[in-house]
This record gives sequence, C-alpha cells and structure tokens, in this order.
Amino acid sequence: MEQNARLYQDLEKVLVTKEEISLKVKELGQKITADYAGKEPVLICILKGAVVFFSDLMREIDLPVTADFMAISSYGSATKTSGVVRVLKDLDHDILGKDVILVEDIVDTGITLSYLRSMLLHRGAASIRIAALLDKAARRTVKDLQVDYVCFDIPDAFVVGYGLDFDQRYRNLPDIGVLAPRIYEK
Ligand code: IMP
Repeated sequence: MEQNARLYQDLEKVLVTKEEISLKVKELGQKITADYAGKEPVLICILKGAVVFFSDLMREIDLPVTADFMAISSYGSATKTSGVVRVLKDLDHDILGKDVILVEDIVDTGITLSYLRSMLLHRGAASIRIAALLDKAARRTVKDLQVDYVCFDIPDAFVVGYGLDFDQRYRNLPDIGVLAPRIYEK
C-alpha cells in the first residue's frame, strides 16, 4: 500500500481538500499583494508546521518580499500555563522598521502568536500582521489576539496534513484532515 494511503487511514475525515487550500492561498496572496502595495514585507515562517503553507503563500504574493524563519518550542504544559514560548531558532535578520507578516499554521489558544507578536514589536518592527492557515477560535484563551488573515475557520478537533503534524508525522499529506482519536489516544 502507498505511504499516503496508509496515513489517510488514520484520519477520521478530510476537512479541507488540497483544491480548497490552493484557492484560498491564492486569494490570500492577492489580498496581501493589495494590502502591501509599494512595501517590501518580511514573511516570517513559524517552523515547522507553517512551512508548506508558507512556501505556497509566498509564491502567490506579487511583491518583493523577503523570508525569514523562526522555530519555537511546541506544546508543553509549562508553555501552556505560563504563556512563555521558547525560541529554538531565532530570525537571521534584523526586523527594525520592517513590515512583518507572521505566517503560522494554526491558531489554537493564541499563546504562541501573542508572545511572538509582542517580542517582534519590542524589536522595533514597523508593523506586524498575522496570517494563519487555520483558526480554531473555540479554543482561544488569549482574548485580544488579532488574527489579520485566516484561510479557514475550523471546529475544535485535532487536525493534520499540509504541514501540520501529530508526533512529527502526517505533514506531507496534501489535504487537511481530522486525526482519528484512536491514533492520539494510543
Ligand atoms: P497556540 O499557542 O495554542 O495557539 O498553539 C499553536 C500551535 O499548536 C500550532 O502552531 C501547532 O503547532 C499546534 N497545534 C494546535 N492545534 C493543532 C492541531 O490541531 N494540529 C496540529 N498542531 C496543532
């Protein structure tokens, strides 16, 4: 059996197809192109989950963008309760005076983006906007987080594919699917 077919068996259902993703990412690219006309925004990819979305999105933006990458610690009970996020890989370039677009896979509690946003504002970014592939608004604990661009609002379920993982797997699925509870309850 093909590898991907095996991975699809672990899904309860496909939530967003690759065709739907592609249309929305194109639309978002056009919106960002219009909103940032005359500017040179810095696109920041939050590794690793956003990497697939990031690489598709940047090719739909018709502006002289630059790219940088940041890796942060993923879910840990400490980060969940304290709201502090550990930076594992920092940006390579200074963002002083730059128009920054943070590109994230999914906004869940909002803790990660709220932390990164204030950190980058402290570093003197001229502006910061957030572009998220998915928004699980029902799970938000940070109430004042503004997510400027969202491709899909989704219900409270654990999703994988198109960059999103469970235990580092499923990132290469072209669609986004709800992981069957039997997989993470193992
Ligand atoms: P937040 O700080 O709670 O908003 O968490 C955001 C991060 O949690 C995302 O960047 C993902 O890495 C991870 N995450 C949250 N929900 C999911 C999910 O349904 N699937 C995969 N990763 C998720």
